[in-house]
Amino acid sequence: MKVLSTRAYPGPAFAELEDVEVRALAELETPRPDVEGLVVANEPVPLGLLPALRIVANYGVGYDRIDVAACAQRALVVTNTPGVLDDATADLAFALLLATRRHVVQGDRFVRAGRWGSSWADGWLAEKVAGSTLGIVGLGRIGSAVARRARGFDLRVLYTRRRRVETELGEQRELDDLLAEADLVTLHVPLTPETRGLIDARRLALLRDGACLVNTARGEIVDEEALVRELVSGRIRAGLDVFVDEPSVPGELLGLENVVLTPHLGSATRQAREAMTRLVVDNLLAVERGDPPLTPVAG
Ligand code: DGY
Repeated sequence: MKVLSTRAYPGPAFAELEDVEVRALAELETPRPDVEGLVVANEPVPLGLLPALRIVANYGVGYDRIDVAACAQRALVVTNTPGVLDDATADLAFALLLATRRHVVQGDRFVRAGRWGSSWADGWLAEKVAGSTLGIVGLGRIGSAVARRARGFDLRVLYTRRRRVETELGEQRELDDLLAEADLVTLHVPLTPETRGLIDARRLALLRDGACLVNTARGEIVDEEALVRELVSGRIRAGLDVFVDEPSVPGELLGLENVVLTPHLGSATRQAREAMTRLVVDNLLAVERGDPPLTPVAG
C-alpha cells in the first residue's frame, strides 16, 4: 500500500512502511490515485486529491481538524492514537500547574537577566500547592492520569464528566461550580462542537482571584480573547500549551509574567511519540491486510 505521510514520524516502526512518501499536504497539487494510506497530525485531508484513499491514520488522539463525516461517506477508515500519550500529557499538565503556581519560569528569567541581587524576591510569594483544590475539566484517560498525580501533591480533586460517575479520584461537580471552587483548573476535554468556547468570558470570570488555568487540550476550548483580557488584568495565572492559531500565540501574552507558554508539547516524550508511530503503523498495516483497524474513531 502506498502511504503518504506529512512527516517522518519518530521511532523504528515508521521504517516498517515499505512504500512511504513524506510530503506536506500543501505540496499536493494534482490528484494522487496511487495513495491508499495517509498519515497526518490532525490536518485537514484533501479528499478530492486522494481518490484511492482507504485509511487516514491520525498521529495524535485529537482529530478535530479531520472531517470524519466526509471520510465516512467515502467509507474511509479514520484512526487515532488514544492511550499511549496519557502519561506524557498528564505530566506536562502537572508541570504547567506547578510552574505557573510557583513562578518557576518567571524566576528562571529573573536569574538569567542577572537581576538576582542581594535580597530574595519577596514579591513572588506564591500560594502553596499542597492542600489546594484542583479542578479537572474532563475526567477521561488523561484527566484521570492527572488526578492520580494529584494524590502525591495532597490536592483535593474536583472533576467534571459528561456522565455521572462515582470514583475515588475525586468529587464530581457541574462545570460552573468547579470553576468557582478550584484554585487550579486543568482542561482535558476533546475539541468538539460542544466544547468549542466552553470556557467563555462568563466562565473565566467564575475563576477565583489568583487561580491557575492550564490548557494542554486545544486552544479553541477557551475563548482566547477573553482569556487574554483576564491575564492582562493580572487576576488569574495560566499555563498554556495550546493556542487557537498555532504556531501563532497572541502577542499580548508574550510580555506577561503570569502566564507560562509551551509549544504544544503535551505528547512530546520519546516514549509517547514512538508509541504513537507504532499505533499509526499498526493501523495502516491492519487495513492493508484487510483486518479491522486497532483504534478507529467513531464516524
Ligand atoms: C493529540 O494527541 O491530539 C496531541 O495534541 C498531539 O500532540
